[in-house]
Amino acid sequence: MLQMSLVQGSAVLAVLYIVFGVIYRLYLSPISKIPGPKVAAVTRLYELYHDVINYGRYYFKITDLHKQYGPIVRISPYEVHISDPDFYDTLYASTSTNRKDRWGWYAAGLGIPNSTLGTVEQGLHRRRRAAMSPFFSKQNVQKLQPTIKERANMLVSRLEKLCNSGEVVVMSHEIDVVMQYCFGKSDHRLEAEGFDPSFHKTSFSAGTAGNLMRNMNWIMKLTKSLPESISMKMSPEMSSFIILKRERMDQIEKIRNQMAEKSEETDTTMFHTLLRSDLPESERSTSRLAEEAVLLAGAGTHTTSWTLSVALYHLLADPKILKKLKDELENAIPDPNESTPLPKLESLPYLTGVIKEGIRLGYGNASRIPRIALDKPIKYQDWEIPVGVPVSMAAPDVHHNEQIFPESYAFHPERWTEDTTGQLDKYLVSFTKGPRNCLGLNLAWAELYIGLSTIFRVFGSVAVRGSSDIGVMDLFETDIGDVEMYRDALFPIAKDGTKGIRVRLSK
Ligand code: HEM
Repeated sequence: MLQMSLVQGSAVLAVLYIVFGVIYRLYLSPISKIPGPKVAAVTRLYELYHDVINYGRYYFKITDLHKQYGPIVRISPYEVHISDPDFYDTLYASTSTNRKDRWGWYAAGLGIPNSTLGTVEQGLHRRRRAAMSPFFSKQNVQKLQPTIKERANMLVSRLEKLCNSGEVVVMSHEIDVVMQYCFGKSDHRLEAEGFDPSFHKTSFSAGTAGNLMRNMNWIMKLTKSLPESISMKMSPEMSSFIILKRERMDQIEKIRNQMAEKSEETDTTMFHTLLRSDLPESERSTSRLAEEAVLLAGAGTHTTSWTLSVALYHLLADPKILKKLKDELENAIPDPNESTPLPKLESLPYLTGVIKEGIRLGYGNASRIPRIALDKPIKYQDWEIPVGVPVSMAAPDVHHNEQIFPESYAFHPERWTEDTTGQLDKYLVSFTKGPRNCLGLNLAWAELYIGLSTIFRVFGSVAVRGSSDIGVMDLFETDIGDVEMYRDALFPIAKDGTKGIRVRLSK
């Protein structure tokens, strides 16, 4: 009897708790007046359905919600989303009197909580970022030009060899200089048989776990506690994180041991420098630094290779664009065997337009990126979003604003070459803005300039051949669906069943 009434009492309490929770979220929450579907305001299951069960489709649902409710929408019990390109700079700016943090819930989806990217608290973030940022300055990236060029030449020479056999290859290659820079040792994936897609697959797989980890972070904890053979079967995506981190821990331990053996230290890679630095002991632990390495290897390779692939697809799909680019490259680079200084490549307008279109349609991080104001409410139009409430925006929203980028899904390098005011640059937000923007953007630009110019100076297509070309590449069973985002899983993911951007190489 007593047991019965205890159960009944608990049930009543649970019902009251739920009823009060619903009332609070609908009518009392500080964001209750912000427009949006009631169900999204009441429960996170709405997001879980669109991002986990329907996998990576919440971005598209949010786009529909903006059409229905306007530029500001409450997309969950906790989060507000804004679609207004002119508000982008305001949201992502963070100053000493108007500080913005990352949102812990979102950071959990990144899977590397101790990396710069995963750090929530803005003071700690600033210190972690400052330790790495000298390596990514424009000046230091200039010095990397020979390394980038060597990797780009390696890619071209591999492709040239494959021309003889009329090979079909998936063009998802990274100009893998990041590992060289971090550890003084390239992974040499470009030299490997079949270009060794294993890292690409593991890193991509880890990235795609983000939706699940954000919404059901306990699965990550469970995965970590299981033997790898079981966890791989249960969730290959989450296990990929564990594998990537373990590999990087081994590399850092190796450097640590080498440094202990050597009396005089001359190596200047990023991790040698970080290990030698006067950062607190905990910041230099192998486990934490391994998370930075996972970040650099992932952020530094997949994004750039995807941007290259998007540009490559459009160049091969439209002979007019390819012809214009090749004409410009032949003029500017009379001898393809000579290395062209980076500033000269940067001054080429059409190449620059091609790269910007690649960055625009590649999006970088396709997901919405939230910020939380710490000092002042975020003001948008007549709305005031209180301190502590996550507010997010997404790059694809800005890049597909038809007023700013007419025919926004089309690849038009001319929109950049004809923009004499430079106004358009403000709306290219794949690297985001503010103190948490992409740390590696100088390196990314350099890789894109050197990569694309090296490939298309000596490769054409059947329709567009240059006088000194060493081969041609043509799209093979690849269409626009292979480069357009169909799912948002941090990275943009193309249509289901895509086999990637494939080209047939020939002489
Ligand atoms: C086209 C290429 C790239 C794009 C579009 C891109 C985009 C992004 C984006 C969207 C973020 C997140 C910013 C935020 O949360 O607000 C980010 C962060 C970051 N990226 Fe990149 N990235 C690219 C290439 C690179 C490269 C080559 C590196 C070099 C290793 C790199 C290193 C980083 C790092 C370290 C962060 C964390 C910065 C921080 O939290 O302070 N990225 N990137």
